[in-house]
Amino acid sequence: MNTRESTAPWWQDAVFYQIYPRSFRDSNGDGVGDLRGIIEQLDYLNDGKNNTRSLGIDALWISPFFRSPMRDCGYDISDYKDVDPLFGTIDDARELISACHARGIRVIIDLVLNHTSDQHPWFQASASDPDGDKGDWYLWAPRRPNNWIAMLELKSAWWWDERRQAYYLATFSREQPEVNWRNPAVREAMYDVVRFWLEMGVDGFRLDVINWFIKDDRLRSNPWHFKAVPDMFQKHIYDRNRPETLDICRELREISDKYSNTPDDDKVLVGEVFTDDADIAASYHGNGNDALHMAFNFEFLWQKWDARAFHDAIQHWYAALPEGAWPNFTLSNHDQPRHYSRYMPAFGTRDYRQRIALARARVAAAMLLTVRGTPFLYYGEEIGMQNVPLKRHEIQDPLGQRLSFLTRDKGRAPMQWDAGATAGFCPEDAPPWLPVRPAGTQANVEAQLDDPDSLLGWYRTLIRLRRQEPALRQGQLQMLCDGSKQVLGWRRHMPDETGTRDIVVLLNFANRTTPLPDGQVDTGTVLAGTHRDTGEAAHPAELLPHEVLILGQ
Ligand code: NOJ
Repeated sequence: MNTRESTAPWWQDAVFYQIYPRSFRDSNGDGVGDLRGIIEQLDYLNDGKNNTRSLGIDALWISPFFRSPMRDCGYDISDYKDVDPLFGTIDDARELISACHARGIRVIIDLVLNHTSDQHPWFQASASDPDGDKGDWYLWAPRRPNNWIAMLELKSAWWWDERRQAYYLATFSREQPEVNWRNPAVREAMYDVVRFWLEMGVDGFRLDVINWFIKDDRLRSNPWHFKAVPDMFQKHIYDRNRPETLDICRELREISDKYSNTPDDDKVLVGEVFTDDADIAASYHGNGNDALHMAFNFEFLWQKWDARAFHDAIQHWYAALPEGAWPNFTLSNHDQPRHYSRYMPAFGTRDYRQRIALARARVAAAMLLTVRGTPFLYYGEEIGMQNVPLKRHEIQDPLGQRLSFLTRDKGRAPMQWDAGATAGFCPEDAPPWLPVRPAGTQANVEAQLDDPDSLLGWYRTLIRLRRQEPALRQGQLQMLCDGSKQVLGWRRHMPDETGTRDIVVLLNFANRTTPLPDGQVDTGTVLAGTHRDTGEAAHPAELLPHEVLILGQ
């Protein structure tokens, strides 16, 4: 493992990169990405030698690759301790972890502990033998007790099982029955899974829908309300966010802390707290950060392109976090449309829309990589990947199969390595599991790898700057511009061995020249910028359209 100069916990300093393994790289020609494909492409992510052609990320979050019938693309697990043959073998997983570590890349894996697959032997036993030792491992009821909804089916979350002559709870798809976390034997079985992977050497976990683990003990109905996304017209007070869930976070923390000796080998817990309410997400850090290390804040995922809205979301998140907790930010993940497409103007010529989308992607990247908190990137955002148009029959996402306009697959298309017919993701004679973007686009690694002015070059510049400048990772953040004129700006401030280091970040969200507030920005040296040369002295009074300017002082 690379040694770091920083004394902060590694996960606070790290840039994370999410890989959706089905879509990153196919090494065996079956049209589906796999673990060996990731191993083959590690140098692209970080070769461990500070090569300027590497992206320079510090940690991977890999979406599930466990044995699964793939009813929800691997978020339905039938064996937590094995790798699905589609993705490789357990030895490939071991090799992937050590190949990452050899390059200084940490690995967190995606544990789905709220539910299993209906093919998991635990569920099979629970369904067929109510009096057996697994009889109480899932949530069963003689009749539908409440109005809870299955998110991926848009129907009641209670499903009839012929064998047991009872209903079981599954709040995603019917093939994902929820385990009974109130049962100590279930907890122990899940903690055993956690230990198994920690022993294998992973550096932590992304914990799928951790805020859904515990359900109301009286199974009460949720009140209805008028918000469709993401709440499905219900206030989720009885099927999510029950107070007892925090005890589980603390128990998980106790286990993972046993495997951590120094800030440099913390085993990090990152919870997917599925809500758009930052206050709820913040609460999962516990008191003084004794529960999760980080809970995802999804406010950016639903944010329109508006500097003021981002300003407010950032301030809201900082204010919501308990003392001692550490922020994180993300713009895209495998459940949402890609932000490149979200921020593309709806109207105008094709060239105009593409030009503005690219300019906005640069602004967004600078925001994500310079704001105080751990950034999570989603594979392909660094090359400007967009949502991929899909025909109905091409959709594999269970949600999209029911309502095609909601399909999450549009943001899950294969990584674009080159401009060829299958984008270099798989051989050209192996149809990829989802269509790749039409050939010829510049949004591919090969086209951008040697071009410092490309979006990929911009991400590399920002990631390197973050690595070189402790102030960008750990420095305090003082807002300079509140976004009201579509300019967002902050100062990152940090004492260093020679005094203090200040870095000023200025982001113009508008496609017009915009004045900066008087007296807020002194002269500085350009550390990175979209319109000015690095090393130049600058005392800007205004920003050009979509300009990003990062100054050292
Ligand atoms: C959240 C995951 O991110 C999503 O992809 C999945 O469908 C559900 N949890 C169910 O596991």
